[in-house]
Amino acid sequence: MVLCVTGNYKRHYVNYENPADFLWYDSYMSIDLQSIRPFLNATLDTTDFKNLGEKYVGKVRDVYSQDKRSILIATDRQSAFDVSWCTIPLKGQALNQLSAWWFEQTKDVMPNHVIAVPDPNATVVKKLSMFKVEIIVRGYLTGSTGTSAWVNYAKGMRNFCGNTLAEGMLKNQKFPTPIITPTTKGETDELIDAAGIVEQKLTTKKQWEEISDRALALFKRGQEIAAKRGLILVDTKYEMGVDEEGNILVADEVHTPDSSRYWVATSYEDRMQKGMEPESLDKEFFRLWLRGQGFDYGKPKPIISDEVRLQLAAKYIDLYERITGEAFVLPETTDVIRRIGENLSRYKM
Ligand SMILES: Nc1ncnc2c1ncn2[C@@H]1O[C@H](COP(=O)(O)OP(=O)(O)OP(=O)(O)O)[C@@H](O)[C@H]1O
Ligand SMILES: [Mg+2]
Repeated sequence: MVLCVTGNYKRHYVNYENPADFLWYDSYMSIDLQSIRPFLNATLDTTDFKNLGEKYVGKVRDVYSQDKRSILIATDRQSAFDVSWCTIPLKGQALNQLSAWWFEQTKDVMPNHVIAVPDPNATVVKKLSMFKVEIIVRGYLTGSTGTSAWVNYAKGMRNFCGNTLAEGMLKNQKFPTPIITPTTKGETDELIDAAGIVEQKLTTKKQWEEISDRALALFKRGQEIAAKRGLILVDTKYEMGVDEEGNILVADEVHTPDSSRYWVATSYEDRMQKGMEPESLDKEFFRLWLRGQGFDYGKPKPIISDEVRLQLAAKYIDLYERITGEAFVLPETTDVIRRIGENLSRYKM
C-alpha cells in the first residue's frame, strides 16, 4: 500500500491482488491509516452482555431491550446486499457517534429517541413501538439494490412509490425535489406507496402525513448541513416509532453512512459530465466494489482483504470528521468490549 501526502489531504492508494485494480480517494482524515491497523484484529463482532435486557441481533447493531428503554450497541459488522461480510475496524464507533451528532443537530426539526450516549459505541434510547415501514427520502436517481430508484428506473418504472419520474433521466441525476419512496420493513423489503401504507395499517393516514412531512424536513436539514461541509446528502432512510404518549419520534439512526448516501459535492458535476460515478463516502463504495469483484446472489462471496477493511474504516472515520468537524478519537486500548461493559454498568437491570 502506498500512502502519499498531497497538500492538506492524504491520498490513499490500496493495491489488490490484481495490481490494475486499486481504489483511491482523497481523505481528510486527521489520523493516519496506519494507526487504525492495530484495530483490524480487535473489532467488535458480537456482544454478550448479561443483565442488560433481552438481546436482539440486527445486521449491524446488538439491541438490548428493557421495559421502557433499549440499548443500541453499534458493532463493527459490515453488511451489504443483506449479506454480512466482515467487520470494519472502528466502524461501530464512527456510526454511533455520527448518529448521535445528527440527532442533536435535528432535534428541533423532530423529537428523537435518544436518552443518553454513555459509550462511543452505545446509545440508550426510548423503546418505541416502531412503524413497520422504512421511510426513504431520495434527492437523486441512484442505487444498486432491487428497491433502489435507479435499478427500477432503468427497468422502465416511471411511477415510483406514487412519485412520477420524468423520462430521460441519467443515473445519479438530481430530482427536481426530494421524493419519499417507502418500503415495508419485513422479511423482504417491498416498495409501497402512501395508500398501501394506510391500507395495510402500517400507519394511520394522519400519522403518515406527519411522518412524511417530518422526513422531508429532516432531509432538508441534513442536506443543508452536508452542503456546508462540501458534501451532498444523496438519500437516506428513517425509522420512526410512537412513544407511550402517542408522539411520533425519529428512532434508529440518522444520516449515517449505513442509512444514507453521501457524495463529494465539488467533484459531482465534473464526474457526471464525464459519465463517472460520484465520489462516495458511504456503503455504496463497498457495494460497487463487491459488484466489481463479480458479486451476485448465489455466487461465491469475494474475499475481503485487510486492505479493503482498512480503506472502509478510513471512509467511515473521514465522513465522521467531515460532517462533525471534530477529530475522531481513537480508543485508548483495543479492549473496546470491556470499556462498553463498564460504561453500560449503570444501565443493568
Ligand atoms: N427506539 C427504538 N425502539 C425500538 N426499536 C428500535 C429503536 N431504534 C431502533 N430500533 C430497532 O433496532 C434495530 C437496530 O439494529 P440494526 O439496525 O442492526 O437492525 P437491522 O438488521 O437493520 O434491523 P431489522 O433486522 O429489524 O431490519 C432495528 O430493528 C431497529 O428497527
Ligand atoms: Mg438497521
